[in-house]
Amino acid sequence: MKKFTDVTDIGPLDLAVKEALQIKADRFAHTSLGRNRTLMMIFFNSSLRTRLSTQKAAMNLGMNVMVLDVNQGAWKLETERGVVMDGDKAEHLLEAIPVMGSYCDIIGVRSFAGLTDKADDYEERVISQFIKYSGRPVFSMEAATRHPLQSFADLITIEEFKETPRPKVVMTWAPHPKALPQAVPNSFAEWMNATDYDFVITHPEGYELDPRFTGHARIEYDQRKALEGADFVYAKNWSAYADPNYGKVLSTDRAWTVDAEKMALTNNARFMHCLPVRRNMIVTDDVIESPRSIVIPEAANREISAQVVLKRMLESL
Ligand code: CP
Repeated sequence: MKKFTDVTDIGPLDLAVKEALQIKADRFAHTSLGRNRTLMMIFFNSSLRTRLSTQKAAMNLGMNVMVLDVNQGAWKLETERGVVMDGDKAEHLLEAIPVMGSYCDIIGVRSFAGLTDKADDYEERVISQFIKYSGRPVFSMEAATRHPLQSFADLITIEEFKETPRPKVVMTWAPHPKALPQAVPNSFAEWMNATDYDFVITHPEGYELDPRFTGHARIEYDQRKALEGADFVYAKNWSAYADPNYGKVLSTDRAWTVDAEKMALTNNARFMHCLPVRRNMIVTDDVIESPRSIVIPEAANREISAQVVLKRMLESL
């Protein structure tokens, strides 16, 4: 595997999940694969889970790991070509990328959407430049429009916890005080559409996602109706995608918060969220702390999804 940025890069999902569960059963089975190999993780944005789980996955495979927080200690990077660099950005990404590539074997990149220019965000310029100029296999640790390591972990988690072959999975928008990217819901939709699950998306009007990601998913504006009979409730906030409101918060209506009364409409559903989560905005304390909440095993599976990707990249070197 030379790149991992979307669901198509992982191949058949049944094989990917099978490999993930094998790794989970014995995560140290391939400790010699990464010997004398170096992973470089480059963060343009903050992280807890992605940083720790990916580093742990690399260590399970015997790799060395270097982590660069671009905004803490590195030169400020210019990303646009043609800019007269007379401001505070001392280095261009076009030199920095091949230099970073020369120090490692595999590169992971986290770079969020700016949420001011839709075309710029959806062009995925930062991770695309790493793929083009680093000379190394590159994987997304959340890019502007997708978060595939998260979605893969979500899929593994659903496969582990499902009690019916074709569960009803409902992704619901929920309120948040700040504008968040569409990467997680885009990606989750893309991965769910690649399964045969009954997949439903619910959100207030104005929060429609890019149809290239929502595909054939059922869109239901009535949250209560959407949640009826759900086996999994996947809560997430996102900012508006549609023009002219791209990147804006249109609502913080806590009537959309996932609470016990909403969960009672479901088929005793499991509650999921990628974390970090704003309690009592996205979900109430009692729901996230309930025995049906699987947010911790979901986060734990981030180590497994990362290890599958790193293993496949190491095998392709
Ligand atoms: N879910 C997720 O990616 O968490 P972090 O932002 O903490 O990495």
